[in-house]
Amino acid sequence: MIRIDDKKCIKCHACVRDCIVHVLRPDENGTPAVPPDEERFCLNCQHCLAVCPTSAIECNGASPENCAPIGSLPSTNEMINLIHQRRSIRQYKDIEVSQEAMQALIDSLAWSPTGCNVHNLFFTVVRNKSNMDYFRSKMSRVLKFLIRMGIMRLVYPNFWRYMDEIMNGKDVIFRNAPHMVVAASPDDAPCKEADPWIALSYFDLLAQSFGVGTCWSGFAVHTFKWLPSLRKRLGIPRGYTVHAVLLFGYPSVEYKRQTAPRQFQINVI
Ligand SMILES: Cc1cc2nc3c(=O)[nH]c(=O)nc-3n(C[C@H](O)[C@H](O)[C@H](O)COP(=O)(O)O)c2cc1C
Repeated sequence: MIRIDDKKCIKCHACVRDCIVHVLRPDENGTPAVPPDEERFCLNCQHCLAVCPTSAIECNGASPENCAPIGSLPSTNEMINLIHQRRSIRQYKDIEVSQEAMQALIDSLAWSPTGCNVHNLFFTVVRNKSNMDYFRSKMSRVLKFLIRMGIMRLVYPNFWRYMDEIMNGKDVIFRNAPHMVVAASPDDAPCKEADPWIALSYFDLLAQSFGVGTCWSGFAVHTFKWLPSLRKRLGIPRGYTVHAVLLFGYPSVEYKRQTAPRQFQINVI
């Protein structure tokens, strides 16, 4: 429900202009209001609350007093360095990420944009290394079994190099990371595939600011699809599918320079 404080509202209509679903409209006195039968169309994006210059708007229980003021942003150069210097980390220190960093990373997930602002993603954060070791050993046992049975060779014929590594005990799936975050979305969500990747991309970039390295694990996404017992251990609700997995921890490797990636095909018109 959107509440507008008549005494604070200056009728500038900034909220009206920024309402994506046009449920906020001026009433006969010029005060913005939502017709009761249109409340259900509100996406709870809270743009009205955020844009109001006089803190006159509460949106679905969120009030201006509960929202942080606008803060400073990293400079363009800092942002470019962040993007250019993020590397996929496959060598981790054998320690857990600090509580402070872990909590900030978890808290920040709420700000991830989702299609239609549907806020029903499900995340599992593996915070303890011992829990991560559970997934590691379980996965290793299953993969070795599938390789021995010749099933992996049938399903992934091009991955022979990884099969040898797995048989030699290398953690190809979780890269010895002490932690991972798994993002799942409901099968009926409007942007079920994009939302989890976007959420973990934000997580990825914030992690760098704490000196925490990350690595996507497309392998883990695949394997979780056909291992219901691991999905259960992750607590993935029924009707949800895992779409993105990000490994993280403190890197035990240091890069001395940025890379020079090949440009994509970019059509500027
Ligand atoms: C969707 C996706 C899936 C990936 N899956 C894996 C994976 O399973 N294992 C792995 O070690 N790296 C994985 N990567 C990391 C890529 O190999 C890596 O991003 C690429 O080699 C470029 O290196 P950089 O990230 O250090 O720039 C994945 C990356 C993406 C975007």
